[in-house]
Amino acid sequence: MEKKNIDWSSLSFAYMPTDYRFVAHYKDGSWDEGGLVKDASCTMSESAGVLQYAQTCFEGLKAYTTKDGRIVTFRPDLNAKRLQDSADRLLIPQVSTEMFLRALDEVVKANAAWVPPYGTGATLYVRPFLFGCGPVIGVAPAPEYEFRMFVTPVGPYFKGGIKPLRLLLSQYDRAAPHGTGHIKAGLNYAMSLYPGYVAKHQGYAENMYLDAATRTHVEETGGANFLFVTKDNRIVTPKSDTILPSITRRSLVYVAEHYLGLEVEERPVDYCELKDFKECGLCGTAAVISPVGAVDTPDGTIEFASGMDEMGPVCAKLREVLTGIQMGEVEAPEGWIREIC
Ligand code: PLP
Ligand code: COI
Repeated sequence: MEKKNIDWSSLSFAYMPTDYRFVAHYKDGSWDEGGLVKDASCTMSESAGVLQYAQTCFEGLKAYTTKDGRIVTFRPDLNAKRLQDSADRLLIPQVSTEMFLRALDEVVKANAAWVPPYGTGATLYVRPFLFGCGPVIGVAPAPEYEFRMFVTPVGPYFKGGIKPLRLLLSQYDRAAPHGTGHIKAGLNYAMSLYPGYVAKHQGYAENMYLDAATRTHVEETGGANFLFVTKDNRIVTPKSDTILPSITRRSLVYVAEHYLGLEVEERPVDYCELKDFKECGLCGTAAVISPVGAVDTPDGTIEFASGMDEMGPVCAKLREVLTGIQMGEVEAPEGWIREIC
């Protein structure tokens, strides 16, 4: 199979249509078999649930080319499970793990020419999503749904790759207590667009959100969880019911404990503790683990000891092991890697 003629190393995190996507329809109480299509556009009722009341949720994962030339994905069963949790909360019919994995295998294999080669720093981003496509006008779940999965080759999520980022402590909230912060609902991202715009126009890479109820605890950014390193090399990561349970963060916690022998604390993180950490990272599929150098707050700037020049050593080691597992350079824990071809 001949790869597409792309300058893989200079890709940014942007959408590029590829050859095939997977589409399945839900009607009259069941999903059809689904299959690959070439058309990148969706057609639906003007009164579709997704258009009127934002009835949609999504996932994000990546396919990688390993050192020995295989194409693999990373813990996709956890994305399938999280999509089911998101669907339940939005009254969207679940897609089974079996169907999710079949769609993933088919869509990645069919687009193998778009999977960036090993060593380029780029990966194939996979975007599964569910939405109400049937008509509603009263506020109600839609009568019909689509499950889609497309892929697009991507480079680093943050400009400059792994240069430390500067964040803004947001004056806006991301997720309400007992709301939808713990699922990957499109509506969470729609409401983060304005705070994101405010932060980016002031030169920040992202917002740091605090918990909406007390504004005393660190939650996450618009698209990644936090991970901190203490001065004595312990890992601290916020535990909260209103953040997305990041698969990358859960994997990094495992790597920290089982590969690097570090102690990990998953607990509420008070905003006042920030100044005591020496490193801070953003973890997510898109972000991998991206270093944070400083956070600007109304009370002044918090600067992490790792500084604004390079990634701190603990985050760098975590990143090296995680990406090593994903690229087949480091032995993976049982069940983490799904080989596609
Ligand atoms: N938090 C939010 C709000 C996200 O959108 C994402 C991205 O998926 C993450 C965290 C990281 O999750 P994961 O590591 O599963 O990609
Ligand atoms: C991901 O990391 O997959 C995400 O969904 C984050 C998104 C904001 C790009």
